[in-house]
Amino acid sequence: MTKKSKSSAQWLNDHEKDEYVLRARREGYRSRASYKLFEIDEKFGLLRPGTVVVDLGAAPGGWTQIAVNKCGPKGFVVGLDLLDIEPLEGAMLIKGDFTEEKVLAELMAVLQDRPVDLVISDMAPNLSGMREIDQPLAIYLTELALEFACSTLRPGGALVMKCFEGSGVDEIREVIRNNFKQLTNFKPKASRGKSREIYVLGRKFKGSSI
Ligand SMILES: C[S@@+](CC[C@H](N)C(=O)[O-])C[C@H]1O[C@@H](n2cnc3c(N)ncnc32)[C@H](O)[C@@H]1O
Repeated sequence: MTKKSKSSAQWLNDHEKDEYVLRARREGYRSRASYKLFEIDEKFGLLRPGTVVVDLGAAPGGWTQIAVNKCGPKGFVVGLDLLDIEPLEGAMLIKGDFTEEKVLAELMAVLQDRPVDLVISDMAPNLSGMREIDQPLAIYLTELALEFACSTLRPGGALVMKCFEGSGVDEIREVIRNNFKQLTNFKPKASRGKSREIYVLGRKFKGSSI
């Protein structure tokens, strides 16, 4: 067995035993990531009946499921991803690359000038394991999500973004600090301890544009 296939086998083995993977299967959620949003929402109370939510990097749809359930029939939930997302009752789903203008235009058309209450982004590039390649790609997605949030959120709205600690994240925090009244860093228990993943939240959007 090569070193790479050994570590993939180990990953698969760990994944199959992971408490959140098992829980997601038992409770009918599409991803272990669902529990990260549960924790975020439990702490910050962002998803309420009637909330308008944009979920970026939504596949396979774990976060979207939670948003639909919590926001109810008066809410409006749009999920977007590069990958297919199995249909989900109560959510509008867009397949496309968020970095492309035409996909952004499609999202804006679906929103139809609705002020957005909450942007959640769990987008992550395919990680190569080489930080000097992965980090700029991850930061680029984060910057685009932040720019989108600042142009669509209603004043008072909120943003939750996955970031990977490292180069460029402090600059993202600075933009959030300038545009939102509250900046918070949160590492859910469901986020693997050894991962550099962290969720950065901006709450109480000031209403200005970057
Ligand atoms: C960690 S997964 C999201 C899991 C999701 N929150 C859930 O609960 O099921 C990250 C997602 O980001 C998506 N992604 C990465 N780059 C993207 C891009 N440029 N446009 C749209 N989605 C992207 C990936 O396809 C992947 O499905």
